[in-house]
Amino acid sequence: MIKLELQKLLSAASGKEVKIEYPADPSHGDYACNVALTLSKELGKAPQIIAQEIIDKVPANNIIGKIEIAGPGFINIFISEESQKRELERILKEKNQYPKVSSNKEKIILEYSSPNIAKPLGVHHLLSTIIGQSLYNIYTQLGYDTESINHIGDWGTQFGKLIYAYKTWGKKATIEKDPISELLKLYVKFHDEVEKNPAIEDAGRLEFKKFEEGDKENRELWQWFVDESIKEIQSTYDKIGGIHFDHTQGESFYEDKMSAILEEGKSKKIFKEGEEGAYIAEFEDENMSPLVIQKKDGATLYSTRDLATIKYRIDTFKPKKILYMVDIAQTLYFKQLFEVAARFPWFNTECVHVWFGRMHLKDGKASTRKGNVILLDEVLDEAVVRAKKIIEEKNPSLQNIAEVARIIGIGAVKYNILSQNRTTDITFDWDRMLSLEGNSAPYLQYSYARSHSILRKQETTKDVLPDPPEAAEKIRLIKSFLPKFQEQLEMAAQEYKPNILSNYLYELAQRFNSFYNGVQVVRADSEAKKKERLEIVEATSQILKNGLALLGVEVVEEM
Ligand code: ARG
Repeated sequence: MIKLELQKLLSAASGKEVKIEYPADPSHGDYACNVALTLSKELGKAPQIIAQEIIDKVPANNIIGKIEIAGPGFINIFISEESQKRELERILKEKNQYPKVSSNKEKIILEYSSPNIAKPLGVHHLLSTIIGQSLYNIYTQLGYDTESINHIGDWGTQFGKLIYAYKTWGKKATIEKDPISELLKLYVKFHDEVEKNPAIEDAGRLEFKKFEEGDKENRELWQWFVDESIKEIQSTYDKIGGIHFDHTQGESFYEDKMSAILEEGKSKKIFKEGEEGAYIAEFEDENMSPLVIQKKDGATLYSTRDLATIKYRIDTFKPKKILYMVDIAQTLYFKQLFEVAARFPWFNTECVHVWFGRMHLKDGKASTRKGNVILLDEVLDEAVVRAKKIIEEKNPSLQNIAEVARIIGIGAVKYNILSQNRTTDITFDWDRMLSLEGNSAPYLQYSYARSHSILRKQETTKDVLPDPPEAAEKIRLIKSFLPKFQEQLEMAAQEYKPNILSNYLYELAQRFNSFYNGVQVVRADSEAKKKERLEIVEATSQILKNGLALLGVEVVEEM
C-alpha cells in the first residue's frame, strides 16, 4: 500500500514516526506530511529548512513522482506514473477480487443483527444488520479470518410472560396467520393485565421457571414461537439481500453453559452476593451501577448469557477481537459486561462495542405504524416502489424495470445508512436517499452504469477530438486516486466505519464524472491515449462495483 510505503520512507528520512495525510486540496498532491512543522519546535529550526532536509534524505524509489514543500513547511507528495500504472494493471487483472491480499490469520468475530424472538425487528436491528454485514464483508476482503454470529434474543423471562399470555388468551390459528404481530399483541396484553392484576407478573415468572426446568408443554410453545419468528426474520433478511451468518447462536445456545460461569464467578469472588441472594458484579467507577448476574430466585439474565457467550467464543474461536454491533442504548451495559469478563483468568481477547446512533425520519415522523418501530418490511417495500416511479419517469423504455427498481430501492436504503457516520444519529431522508445527485447509492450506481456505456461505445466511435487544456490534471486526479481504495478499506475496518468506504466511492465517482466530462475518452486523438483512458474507465468501474458490493449494494449496467 502506497500510504504505508510513504510512511516508511518519510519516517526513515525524518527519524520520527510520521503520519501521512491527504491534502484538503487534491491539486496540491496525493499525500501530505506535516512532520517538519512538528519537528520545528524541537529542533529550533525553520520548518521549511527541515522539510528540505527530509526531502533530501528520501532515497530514490519508484513510488514518489514529485515531492515538494508547500506553505509553512508541509511536504506534499505526488505519486509516480509508475506506481499509478502498476495499480491500474492490478485492478484490471484482479477484477472482482480486487484488492486481493494475502490472508491475515487474525480471527475477528462480528456479532450483528441479533433480533429478539416474538417481536418485530426494530430499526436498530436493521442498522446492526446492515453495518455488521458490511464490516464483515470488508474484514473478509482484507483477508481476516472472520466469523459472523447472529445472537438472537430467544431466552429470558419475557418467554414466561408470553407463554402465560398464550395459555390464557391466545389462539393457535390467529398466531399462525401473522405470528410476530400476534405474539406482540399477547405480550402487550400481558403488560396491560399486570396493571390491573399484579399477581399475573408472578404467574409469568412461574411459567419461565417451569420452562427453564424443562416443562414439556412450555418448551414446545417456546420452540413454536422461535420457529415462526425465525421464518419472518429470514424473509426480511432475504429482502435486504446479502445477509449471511456463519453461525446463528442465540441466547438459548448458552443454556447449558451458564452454570459453569456462575460457579466460576462465585468461587473467584467476581460475583458477590447482593440483596436477598441475587448475584452482582460491582465497579470501582461510581458512575457504573452494579451488574446483576443472577436474580434472587436463581433465574439467569441477559448478562449471564453474555458472559457464557464470551467464554464460549474464546474457547471455540480464539478471536483476536469480538465486535458487537449494537445500538447506543446498550453502551453502559457493554462497558459493564466487558469489565466483568476481563476479571476472568481466561479472558484474552478484545471486545468492542461498535455502537451506532438512532435513526430519525427527516419529516419528523418516527414510525409507519406504532411507537418507535419503523417496520422494516414497509420501509424496504416503499423504497422499491419509489425507485420504480423514478425509473418509469426517467427511462420508461428500460428492460426489467422491476428488478432494477429492487436493486436501486434496497441499495438506496442500505447506502443511506452506511454513508452516515454511525456515531451520530442517522437521518432517514427519502429524497436524499433516492436522489441521482449527491452522496447516494443511485448516484454511484448511475456512475457505474455510465462507465459501462462508455465501455460499450468504444468500438463504434470514429471521429477524434483534441484534448482540452485541463485534461492532464483530470486524468491525474482519477488515476492517482484509484490506489487509495485499499487504504480506505483498511481505515474503514480499523475504525469500524463503513462510511469511510462510501466517502471514498463518492469522491471517486465525482472525479470520474469530471474526468469523463472533461477528457476525450473514446474520441481521444491517439490510440495510446484512448487505450489508457478506457483502462481508467474500466478500473473505476471495477472499484465502484467492488466497493458497493462490500456495502451490500448491487449495480446495474443500465438504469
Ligand atoms: N437482542 C438484543 C436486543 O435486541 C441485542 C443483542 C446484542 N448482543 C449481545 N451479545 N448482547 O437488544
